[in-house]
Amino acid sequence: MLLRCLRWLRAKVVQRAERLLLHVLAAGPIPKHVAFVMDGNRRYARMNHKAISQGHSDGFLTLRRLLEACLRLEIRCVSVYAFAMDNFRRSPEEIDHLMHLAHDKLRELSQHGDILEQYGVRLNVLGKTSLLPEYVQEAIRHVESITRNNDRCVFSTPVSARKAELVVTAILNIHMSYSAQDEIATAVESAIHISLDNPSDIHITEKDVEDQLFTSLSRSPPLEVLVRTSGVKRLSDYLLWQCNENTQIHFVSAYWPDFGLWDFVPIVLNYQRKAWGK
Ligand code: FPP
Ligand code: MG
Repeated sequence: MLLRCLRWLRAKVVQRAERLLLHVLAAGPIPKHVAFVMDGNRRYARMNHKAISQGHSDGFLTLRRLLEACLRLEIRCVSVYAFAMDNFRRSPEEIDHLMHLAHDKLRELSQHGDILEQYGVRLNVLGKTSLLPEYVQEAIRHVESITRNNDRCVFSTPVSARKAELVVTAILNIHMSYSAQDEIATAVESAIHISLDNPSDIHITEKDVEDQLFTSLSRSPPLEVLVRTSGVKRLSDYLLWQCNENTQIHFVSAYWPDFGLWDFVPIVLNYQRKAWGK
């Protein structure tokens, strides 16, 4: 009993300390859009003698924790790579588990009082969703529709409080059945269709294409930080257009389920150091 009380007390102290740290960090410059390539779930599972499915489930818990930390930091847009189009080449059992996990977790996130409602976050699932099973598409339509009008997330760190409260649209983009090359090809196709309205002057600019990217259509701010876990140094067809000379790219060695606040804080500090150095 005493041991349980002490553990509870320790957890509360750690939680308080983490919240204070996030509050202090939020007073400095904060990236508007951070993306995560959540890699290493299977290696984490193997290393911990767990089933692969448990590795992915633990990966979702990290996503939830990180999302809350990002919202407390007043990061207004978070994107995560949850299922690459290439992942359809995995075993039917693993795909089936990932699809059921996505369905259950999207349903969970859309529940009354859960994190999206608590913080007023708009959720978008970006990618070729028509390739996903119908029950997942149905869960996507549900969560997107109930968060569609979430456009009043109130940020109030000491800095923004001085300027009065800052009301923003907080966004979570879950990329599912996604490939950046497919996104770019789709955007080019849409730009051509639009330009056909004026056939006498067919001229497609970079901006025309950019305007048709999933991230632009979902009104996400420019990507400022991209983090890939698990020590692999590749972009793996994620947000290729959005990564530009202003995007800070970080490769960290932790497997995604082990990635925590203490891995993320140095990345935020590095962003702040560069922002102050400008
Ligand atoms: C990459 O690790 C991870 C994935 C392919 C799945 C990521 C999905 C989640 C974290 C849960 C998603 C939740 C929602 C709401 C959609 P890996 O399988 O490539 O592992 P490895 O690199 O060790 O092989
Ligand atoms: Mg991987």
